[in-house]
Amino acid sequence: MAVVLVNLLNLPFPHSATTSKLVCYFTNWSQYRDGPARFLPDNVDPHLCTHLIFAFAIISYGNELVASDCNDDALYKSFNALKTRNPKLKTLLSVKGQDTDSANKFSQMMSSSYARQQFIQSSIRLLRTYGFDGLDLAWQSPASQGRPPEDKRRFTLLCKELVEAYKAESKARGYQRLMITAAVAAKRNVIYISYDVPQISQYLDFISVLTFGFHESQESLTNHHSPLYSGEHQTGESLHYNVNSAILYWQEQGAPAEKLLMGFPTFGRPFLLTFTETGLGAPTSGSAVAGPYTQEMGLWSNYEICSFLQGATVEWIDNQKVPYALKGRGWVGFDNQTSYYYKVQYLMEHKLGGAVVWTLDLDDFSGEFCGQGSSPLIRYLKTQLENGTTTSTTPYNVTTPVTNQMVSI
Ligand SMILES: *[C@@H]1O[C@H](CO)[C@@H](O)[C@H](O)[C@H]1NC(C)=O
Ligand SMILES: *[C@@H]1O[C@H](CO)[C@@H](O)[C@H](O)[C@H]1NC(C)=O
Repeated sequence: MAVVLVNLLNLPFPHSATTSKLVCYFTNWSQYRDGPARFLPDNVDPHLCTHLIFAFAIISYGNELVASDCNDDALYKSFNALKTRNPKLKTLLSVKGQDTDSANKFSQMMSSSYARQQFIQSSIRLLRTYGFDGLDLAWQSPASQGRPPEDKRRFTLLCKELVEAYKAESKARGYQRLMITAAVAAKRNVIYISYDVPQISQYLDFISVLTFGFHESQESLTNHHSPLYSGEHQTGESLHYNVNSAILYWQEQGAPAEKLLMGFPTFGRPFLLTFTETGLGAPTSGSAVAGPYTQEMGLWSNYEICSFLQGATVEWIDNQKVPYALKGRGWVGFDNQTSYYYKVQYLMEHKLGGAVVWTLDLDDFSGEFCGQGSSPLIRYLKTQLENGTTTSTTPYNVTTPVTNQMVSI
């Protein structure tokens, strides 16, 4: 007895373990993938992440928050049922503003106080019906990309009115207040046009900075889509297309560090090389073929990348702290545990609120493809966040830049 007690008291207190959020997105379309790639709420380990976000619900023509798919009802239920296995787990429902149609509906809904109230009250009904703990606004470009400039101010109003209504509902009914969060842009010009950063930071419980997808597969030169720092080959605006630049900018604009979450992709961006040049900034002919399971141009899941890595050449971009791989005319910028290690170090040094992962279903969730256990990237991320800065374990090959290394898995 005494021995046990002494040992317990001597344990180092993991003070950062409780503060770092690990927020993970679930996507409603991964249920339609084939065979081992099919992903349902039952595939989610309820102890992996601290918060789960269901993507996406949509806005109806009547300005209400509604499910986007006929079977979302069943999915919402099994998704929230994960909390019975981990009562500390929080769930949120994300409302989409990515494409023109959903962005139009966002603009429309925000344009009058009446429409905003329709949306806000409908969100309370929907979230409470299924037992979600909050709402996530996934709109990366209010007031930019062809949206009316007033959308910036209206987005602030929406956040303000949401939090007021959620507070009132909580008070009236004695429930815990619903959370309100946003998934936001990481490119400086978009941030500047779209958000009143100090204001929205007050209202939002956390802000997920989507620090990936800085480069698209349609671009004519190879580039990593989620580097930690800028590369020597970059010029102009693309000097800012990296995690560091995005996080610093959000902070400079007035967002408190503890509200900011850094984005961690479980996917890579593939290119098709045009000539024999293979480095960064090599000419491309667009995206390499779609992944066999994800079937999407310009995106390969971590498990598809694991298959690609067999017999591929992997290079470490030392000044950007991320790897890329090439095989034949295929080229992919991706993340592995080493790049995650550097990103977590950065997150800790800057005392950010935590990490946000896009997505659960793109990691090797079953462990069948990479041979590194289930969800190797997210699990590694969780361990690193829980260890905190002082106790984090030695990363793999962190000091030596690796060139032309064959990866054996
Ligand atoms: C998932 O949500 C989107 C809205 O983001 C919707 O368009 C789609 O129909 C839903 N279902 C599937 C299977 O993609
Ligand atoms: C990540 O990729 C780099 C570049 O090939 C390599 O040096 C490193 O060992 C990889 N990390 C892991 C954990 O495999």
